[in-house]
Amino acid sequence: MESYLLKNINLPDLKLLKTALDFGAYNGFLKCLDSYSPKDVVEEIEASGLRGRGGGWYSTGQKWNSLKRVKNKPAYFCCNCSEGEPGSFKDRLIIEKNPHLLLEGVAIASYALGVNTAYICVRGEFTEATEILKKSLTDAKAKKLLGKNIHNTGYDLKIIIFRTGGNYICGEETALLNSLEGWPATPREKPPYPAEAGLYGCPTIINNVETVSNIPYIINNGVDWFSAIGCRECPGNMLFSISGHVKKPGVYEIPIGSFTLREIIDQFAGGPNNGHSIKAVIPGGGSSGFLSQKELDITMNPDSLKKIGSSFGTGSIIVMGDQADIVKMTRKLAKFFRDESCKNECEICKKGSIELTYHLLQIEKGEGKSENLSKIHKTIESMKDGGICAMPQTASSVIKSALQRFPHEFNNKIANKVS
Ligand SMILES: Cc1cc2nc3c(=O)[nH]c(=O)nc-3n(C[C@H](O)[C@H](O)[C@H](O)COP(=O)(O)O)c2cc1C
Ligand code: SF4
Repeated sequence: MESYLLKNINLPDLKLLKTALDFGAYNGFLKCLDSYSPKDVVEEIEASGLRGRGGGWYSTGQKWNSLKRVKNKPAYFCCNCSEGEPGSFKDRLIIEKNPHLLLEGVAIASYALGVNTAYICVRGEFTEATEILKKSLTDAKAKKLLGKNIHNTGYDLKIIIFRTGGNYICGEETALLNSLEGWPATPREKPPYPAEAGLYGCPTIINNVETVSNIPYIINNGVDWFSAIGCRECPGNMLFSISGHVKKPGVYEIPIGSFTLREIIDQFAGGPNNGHSIKAVIPGGGSSGFLSQKELDITMNPDSLKKIGSSFGTGSIIVMGDQADIVKMTRKLAKFFRDESCKNECEICKKGSIELTYHLLQIEKGEGKSENLSKIHKTIESMKDGGICAMPQTASSVIKSALQRFPHEFNNKIANKVS
């Protein structure tokens, strides 16, 4: 099992340009500038089968191909470093430990898309990551690896580092674009999609940090190398953020589709804490919902999780041991979705998330009645039709997954009035 994204991650100086160059940083970008046309790069990425790691798992090559260039309008590239998904902490690791990998990926994507201005949108709270990235950008520009007339090829690339407001909805790509334009971070109605009319109405491609970080390796090592890792539908390695009641929480690089959820938890994260067993697992970040311990033998790839009504999301595995209070965890997630929605005009999103949080809190406190449960079920139904973005469906399906798999936890608190 070959690791590449995290290969040298523990070298203390990897964030310094000199060290990064010693380990091959920017070779892929220079190879593109020297020997590939932008079209060649897009074709290479499409042929590799790379799928976006930001949660939606779109084909990166197809997304790039969908860019609709308009005469006299620039195109933009945005790298999404919002990382607001509960349980996810892998993007920040890349920025802080290997910033030149990210910058090189952004440079290759920009070159491929004919972009001269790219944005890296970093979550507001990531102060240290932002500083590291800014310094790395300055150093790379000083070496003519980025900026004007890169390596005397005539290609100019201005990269702008932008700090978002920091809330969860800023990660939704159109909210991110509004935020970049100086508006409140509220999702836009789609269509038009950003590839057609994105930043300032210009065609824009948005990709996640981890997606972008795969790109230099694909260019350097080739499509056959990449396609041989992971599974056919989803090649490559994935960074799994594993947290909760496990012996060794952390970020692990694992080929997609090669292990079951149970194997990942046991073999990489050391299994549940001593003396405990697993009660529940959230497999792909807060928005992917709950699985029970009976479902842990599922192969970890986006398609198999979709089949059971869950999602691979950002590969953020949250493990809950037998000591976990599922009602409390469910209420915390409901509150998260309530607080982190954009509070735009979608009535069902605002009202639904407030109601879910309220009724769950009553049950958690030992003050719940069966009516609270009925109201939760009714609210879940009403949120299915959704608002401008997927937030209401996501919030309601997460709560539904807990109620379906752990009804006894809710019923027990109601029947016995226990908190
Ligand atoms: C509510 C919400 C939050 C999101 N948060 C993030 C995020 O923090 N980081 C991210 O890369 N994508 C996030 N996304 C997905 C983005 O909208 C977009 O699909 C992604 O950045 C595209 O990159 P990819 O194609 O490389 O996966 C979020 C989507 C939604 C609906
Ligand atoms: S559904 Fe919710 S989060 Fe999405 S745009 Fe509407 S109010 Fe905002």
